[in-house]
Amino acid sequence: MASTAERGTWGSKAGFILAAAGSAVGLGNIWGFPTQVGQGGGAVFVLVYLLCVLLICLPIMMAELMIGRHAQLAPVGSYAAIRPNTRWWLVGLLGVLAGAGILSFYSVIAGWSVAYIWFAGTGAVTGDAEAVGAFFSDFTANGPLSVGLTLVVLGATATVLLGGVQSGIERVTKLMMPALIALLLVLAVRATTLPGAAEGLAYYLRPDFSRLLDPMVLLAALGQAFFSLSLGMGAMLTYGSYLSKRSSIVSAACWVVLLDTSMALLAGFIIFPSGFSIAGFDPSASGPGLIFTVLPRLFATLPGGQLFGAGFFVLLTMAALTSTISLLEVPVAHFIDVHRWPRRRAVLLVTTAVFLIAIPSALGNGAVATLGTLPGLGIDFLTVMATVWNEFALPIGGLLTAVFVGWIWRADQAITEVQLHGTAFPGQHVWSFLIRWVCPAAIAVIIGFAVYTVASA
Ligand code: PFF
Repeated sequence: MASTAERGTWGSKAGFILAAAGSAVGLGNIWGFPTQVGQGGGAVFVLVYLLCVLLICLPIMMAELMIGRHAQLAPVGSYAAIRPNTRWWLVGLLGVLAGAGILSFYSVIAGWSVAYIWFAGTGAVTGDAEAVGAFFSDFTANGPLSVGLTLVVLGATATVLLGGVQSGIERVTKLMMPALIALLLVLAVRATTLPGAAEGLAYYLRPDFSRLLDPMVLLAALGQAFFSLSLGMGAMLTYGSYLSKRSSIVSAACWVVLLDTSMALLAGFIIFPSGFSIAGFDPSASGPGLIFTVLPRLFATLPGGQLFGAGFFVLLTMAALTSTISLLEVPVAHFIDVHRWPRRRAVLLVTTAVFLIAIPSALGNGAVATLGTLPGLGIDFLTVMATVWNEFALPIGGLLTAVFVGWIWRADQAITEVQLHGTAFPGQHVWSFLIRWVCPAAIAVIIGFAVYTVASA
């Protein structure tokens, strides 16, 4: 196994928080969250989402950080070190596979964002809602272009990872996060003062309680919360493995959750008011193109809109990059720790493999236009990937993490990892109750309820 010096560590706790928040804040917040709110019935989705974040995801975030920091290894190595000679390492392996699987479709969407820097900056996307929508469909139907853009994203991600933990990951995320937060605030102020914004705000903020117990809304909110917080696949575990034994896991986790959730909520304050200020906007019918079709229209209302538009997509690309970095780091750290590969070899080989799996997602979207949809499913390959990984793999990974920490490693043992060097763990009993009972039961019930509904439909 690699030593700490070879693996690397964060330079400071703030560096860790920004890198972990960088992993969490990404397309999931700005693209995924508003899309899901649109399809999940507005404010009711927001409400369920917030409950999932607080009662299920925050305790699991702490649990992942505890495992990683205790074992100081990537997921497979960590589970094997804490419970040797058992099969628990398979949970780590699920994470390594999820990292590659999610990255394969995530990098395609990040590639669209790269292209939109150019489109928005040159004023290529103008006209009414229909024209902007048609522009997006034509663009994503160009498979080879999507493949090329995906390669650009993966290449940039790999370049940062070659630099290692502190001078690669930490240095880049520290620069990008503050700029992203500032621009989102400016856009939210503009969007909420547009004519027609009030209707959008009402959709976003007024819950339709009839959908509260819709199993599909519950499952989508749970999956979205896991995805947005980068949980259930060992990304936080891996980042936790570079964390100093002196830093407080509890406050770090709270910071990351707070930053990520505020960024998602803020994105809603941008998208819904802007969307509803356009005539004929239907949030539930928008799908993956939501931000690519709504935002260009918002930029058109701003003085210097082209500059704003390009700036927004630069930041969206950066937010995506700080997430792709963490997605790629999970399998890369695995090969460094367990197979003792040098970082360089791990980065190059894993990136190539991910690129190959990404090709169907990149081309698949083109196939939506030409072939219609995937036979029998009515949706494109990219959506299938997103559903499989986000709504099933991540919550299942989270459930197993909760069971492992709560019952196998045991909550009291995990708590001693937090309390090293006299660090306080306020609310340790609440955490222990949530991780042992609430997290496993809630995730199992939500997944079971959704599978039952689909099966009996
Ligand atoms: N949290 C990222 C986002 O919201 O865009 C996506 C993500 C990154 C998921 C890293 C999982 C992960 F390990």
